[in-house]
Amino acid sequence: MKNVDEMTAANLRRWDEKAQANWNSHYYDLDGFLRKKDSLLPLEVREVGDVNGKNMLHLQCHFGMDSLSWAGRGATVTGVDFSAEAIRLARELSRKIEVPAKFINSNVYDLESVLQTEFDIVYTSYGVLCWLPDLGEWGRLIAKYLRPGGFFYIVEGHPFGNMIDENVLDHFQAGYPYFDESPEMFDDDHVVDQGHDFQNKERFEWFHSMSEIINSLVSQGLHLEFVHEFSSCFFPMHPRMQRHDDGYWYLPEGEFNVPMMFSLKASKPFD
Ligand SMILES: C[S@@+](CC[C@H](N)C(=O)[O-])C[C@H]1O[C@@H](n2cnc3c(N)ncnc32)[C@H](O)[C@@H]1O
Repeated sequence: MKNVDEMTAANLRRWDEKAQANWNSHYYDLDGFLRKKDSLLPLEVREVGDVNGKNMLHLQCHFGMDSLSWAGRGATVTGVDFSAEAIRLARELSRKIEVPAKFINSNVYDLESVLQTEFDIVYTSYGVLCWLPDLGEWGRLIAKYLRPGGFFYIVEGHPFGNMIDENVLDHFQAGYPYFDESPEMFDDDHVVDQGHDFQNKERFEWFHSMSEIINSLVSQGLHLEFVHEFSSCFFPMHPRMQRHDDGYWYLPEGEFNVPMMFSLKASKPFD
């Protein structure tokens, strides 16, 4: 059994390769982004609100499409990702569209050694929590990087939806744990990988429950503003899901109405 450092190293190898694969993928639609210079969906735009003049820390920013979209809306953005390849591509994208942002190549858990600034907003989204073994430390870092009066926002796959077994096609079946027992090892291609032949297939994902996510923030003194749950998802969590015009993926009509995605906002009090 690998230890956490070895599992993180395997995930990093995978992400360095996947950054380039995603850059070329239909799912990320780089050409569309170069035209619109905006990858944000209406949900996070509405729920985060006006970012003009705010400084934002974007955790696990990948190759920076969302970071640069917030920057285009007037925020001063610092994006962080542990994949050197993702950060290299983020800087290239920033130059290509002439929208400035700062990109730091660091593991979230090592951030304190390279970043001391406080932020108005800490933001993270869409496919981030499963890569993090320790949400307690994650919550501590989020609270540390927020200035008093600032807020944290996340939109992410729902822990309930994460249980769905994507290999069982004709009915709903739980294939993964709800509670964080031990990381799950995967060595297949992900449903959005569209046939890319990965050299680094092995990856490890942690399952976090809703209470674990919320308590990791509340226990650091953050005030919960809202938690919202959605039956749609930002990616086809199951092969039968289909993309609608709003950019999200849905199970066929008439099937189970279960939570596939959530959003959460929590603020740091002044005292
Ligand atoms: C699914 S992507 C996030 C996608 C993002 N919402 C976007 O803008 O496209 C997950 C990202 O988390 C990064 N990551 C995973 N574990 C990390 C860690 N411990 N520290 C920093 N980044 C990490 C990966 O390199 C990857 O870029």
